[in-house]
Amino acid sequence: MDNLPYVNINYELDENLIEKWWNEFTNILSHTGYIRPNFSKLDDKTITELYGHELFIKSDSDALILKDKVNLYAEKILENLNLEGIPFHVTFMVTNTGILDWHKDEASSTRPQCSAAIMYSLNTDKRAPTEWIYNDVYYKLDGYKHALINCSCMHRVDNSKCSPRRTFRIALYGPTFEEIKSKIIQSGYTI
Ligand SMILES: [Fe+2]
Repeated sequence: MDNLPYVNINYELDENLIEKWWNEFTNILSHTGYIRPNFSKLDDKTITELYGHELFIKSDSDALILKDKVNLYAEKILENLNLEGIPFHVTFMVTNTGILDWHKDEASSTRPQCSAAIMYSLNTDKRAPTEWIYNDVYYKLDGYKHALINCSCMHRVDNSKCSPRRTFRIALYGPTFEEIKSKIIQSGYTI
């Protein structure tokens, strides 16, 4: 296996279905303050909206029902990608500004440390170049449609050409990035 902090995925997702859910979350939650203004340690202008985050939907029964559907779909994806049983958390993420500067995705009061995330860029051909320092080596990926990325080492994302960037994101917890990458490669759905 290579030493890259990412692997491109060629498993096809149902973009229309994801888009439909995205719109449903927006409609359901537009009255309840679903907007999360920031991630724990990042600048407050970087990521402004997370749809389907449990913290914001916990008091809304319609959103919870929708989230159950989304989670079932995510479980199916993980099963096909040889990642069955790994704890996960799905969000629909909107990133609004240019550079998301160097950071690790750290644990916070609402979520544990995530090792890796499956990222899927919605409805755009524009890509967000991403850089990592991984095992003391610099890596750059010019962008991706669908990929597993390492979130536990330092990384930086340039969203300036595709802002606002909308991503269907499955964060993965427990096993290390390397363990998850090894499993997903065995699924055959990687490039
Ligand atoms: Fe990150």
